[in-house]
Amino acid sequence: MLETDKVFAGSIPESYDRYMVPLIFEPYAADIAQRAASLSPSAVLEIAVGSGVVTRALAPRLSSGASYVATDLNQPMIDYAASRQPRDSRIIWRQADALALPFENATFDLVCCQFGAMFFPDRSSGYREAKRVLKPGGHFLFNVWDRIEENVFADDVTNALAKMFPNDPPRFLARTPHGYHDTALIRSELEDSGFSRVVIDTRAEQSRASSPRLPAIAYCQGTVLRNEIEARDAGKLETATDYVASVIADRHGSGEVAAKIQAHVIVAVA
Ligand SMILES: C[S@@+](CC[C@H](N)C(=O)[O-])C[C@H]1O[C@@H](n2cnc3c(N)ncnc32)[C@H](O)[C@@H]1O
Repeated sequence: MLETDKVFAGSIPESYDRYMVPLIFEPYAADIAQRAASLSPSAVLEIAVGSGVVTRALAPRLSSGASYVATDLNQPMIDYAASRQPRDSRIIWRQADALALPFENATFDLVCCQFGAMFFPDRSSGYREAKRVLKPGGHFLFNVWDRIEENVFADDVTNALAKMFPNDPPRFLARTPHGYHDTALIRSELEDSGFSRVVIDTRAEQSRASSPRLPAIAYCQGTVLRNEIEARDAGKLETATDYVASVIADRHGSGEVAAKIQAHVIVAVA
């Protein structure tokens, strides 16, 4: 992972929430919320909250006495998430690095994290921190994307941009969001960090959009890929988005489009 891969700031929070969240994050947020609520936790920590799609799905399902600390490395993502959340005095928004959590040992019943672990520069350090802040017997619930070939639009976007920038292809999607999918490695890093009873479930969903332009905008402008494209040629963001939209249209049609997405959902016990 490059240092810049974790910088979700500038115009990214708004584009991310508007385009990426409905395209690929909502079905997995509903899944995380359902799994989390079934554990009836009274003290929840969410890591890498992003624009808050899980928080919006999970908070209404927790008891009135529950506490919910929602954190992210990037303050602009937290500000955006907090602005979208209905008023809820149980939620505390706080900037926090998953690798150095500012909480006492054994504070939470549940730590959840949707599509954040791939951004941790050192997963084992992140897992040890999650274990440290969990009460004994508490649950760590998170998900990671499967390999890019199982996530069709992301693969299409990456291949299209490789044609446009053949000498220096923007590889953010393959390198980071889709770069941590080896379930044996995930299991062993969790067990080495002190977790037990690791269960990994591979879950396929459909990514749907009303036109091929929407996935093109979502990936090229609502993710860190935007910074990578602009670093190659600051004036080429719109051209790149148009080209990616034409490639998706060629492959999936010019009207409504749909394609497979796939992720691993992991539960481990502290
Ligand atoms: C793909 S987004 C996922 C956001 C959200 N969970 C969702 O499902 O939409 C990844 C998030 O990880 C955050 N992030 C990156 N590195 C982090 C770290 N070391 N600690 C905490 N959050 C981090 C980013 O700011 C970003 O909001």
